[in-house]
Amino acid sequence: MGMEWKPDSWREANGIQMPAYDDAAALATVEQTLASYPPLIYADEAKQLRAELAEVASGRAFLLQGGDCAESFAEFNPTNIRDTFRVILQMAVVLTYASKMPVVKVGRMAGQFAKPRSSDVEEQDGVTLPSYRGDIVNDIAFEPASRIPDPQRMLRAYSQASATLNLLRAYAGGGYANLHKVHSWTLDFMGRSPWATKFEELAGRIGEALAFMDACGIDADRVPQLNGTDFYVSHEALLLPYEQALTRQDSTTGDYYASSAHFVWIGDRTRFEDSAHVEFFRGISNPIGMKCGPSLATDDLLKLLDILDPDRSPGRITLISRFGHEKVGDGLAPLVRAVKAEGHPVIWSCDPMHGNTIKAASGYKTRPFDRILAEVKGFFAVHRAEGTHGGGIHCEMTGQDVTECTGGAMDLSEQDLGNRYHTHCDPRLNAGQAIELAFLLAEMLNEESRKDEASQAA
Ligand code: PEP
Ligand code: CO
Repeated sequence: MGMEWKPDSWREANGIQMPAYDDAAALATVEQTLASYPPLIYADEAKQLRAELAEVASGRAFLLQGGDCAESFAEFNPTNIRDTFRVILQMAVVLTYASKMPVVKVGRMAGQFAKPRSSDVEEQDGVTLPSYRGDIVNDIAFEPASRIPDPQRMLRAYSQASATLNLLRAYAGGGYANLHKVHSWTLDFMGRSPWATKFEELAGRIGEALAFMDACGIDADRVPQLNGTDFYVSHEALLLPYEQALTRQDSTTGDYYASSAHFVWIGDRTRFEDSAHVEFFRGISNPIGMKCGPSLATDDLLKLLDILDPDRSPGRITLISRFGHEKVGDGLAPLVRAVKAEGHPVIWSCDPMHGNTIKAASGYKTRPFDRILAEVKGFFAVHRAEGTHGGGIHCEMTGQDVTECTGGAMDLSEQDLGNRYHTHCDPRLNAGQAIELAFLLAEMLNEESRKDEASQAA
């Protein structure tokens, strides 16, 4: 590092978890095509999100980030997009009501295609093939031809991201997210979850509050915050040829932005000092995330923060911890303490998914709901003890009634996993489990704010 940053300076650094494309000419053509396409997001939107995240960093708002582990070409349809959007809205309503704080909503949507893998190869029945790296790189089918990285897939990912974002923008601003519709957001199958009744009760209370405001003469149709919502998209910016081709210079400031999403993050496997990903990220001005897992040393984290946020600007960096329920207490505390001591104004967000993946006897990868909840509790316990703000949650979830994580109020068992196991990568919370997590998290936030009030009164 230390060299001049350019959108392609990452090519001189240590790039891992990216495919080697056989046909360099085909790759170059795709990169040129993407570079000529319109940006998916506009720099001012990324600046607005950064300003909202600065509020989270200072403890006045909460971040909710969620969506697929991996979006796929096969599951691309309006129902999936709507249902995931709707569950995020429902969770946000639950969290806003409990925390009395604005909730910044960011989907793992419209671009979450590239996946890091723990092994370069996958073995099945004695046959070894290159690993699946997400639909933007290769195909999940266990066939030699399917696993060859194909640059054309980037163009398909771009167009799917663009159509997804188009629908999300319409939902967020065009009436679907109107708070008056809170009752109609309830998903049919949620009726089977005990939390559906709780959500209906909450929707009832919100309806009463709106009716009261109406009676007082506040015309809700003229209040943008009630008519719609701000919704942002994010993904792990892993496939740097794609990200570079979509990097744009903001004409008003001269700053560079990744135009593939409002928010992008660096994964746990690619966040080391001479990493190509760190080099790329240091030069873009979007709000960015970085995953922090058990292998991250305190000194390395501080060095990375100096590289990625030398100005110490609130809203720039979200640290997403993913330790697992057993390690979160001992693993997270030293990092939080060191970052605080150095005065870095980061957001701490909890990813309770990636450290809690186990293999069921049937062979399915799963995540027990109680471990997910235990990590969230452990995360808040650390922040309480350190006097810092547990500012967000980062989940893999879907609006569909899938059977991928065990437990929760419906008590999904390992035997149930085969019923509707649709994920292209890691197991996601289904809609019922996601709402349940939101209610349980809301209780924790409520408790936090009661303790804060009590300590202020004392
Ligand atoms: C992910 O968020 O899908 C992921 C791969 O996470 P991590 O980098 O934390 O393993
Ligand atoms: Co994942």
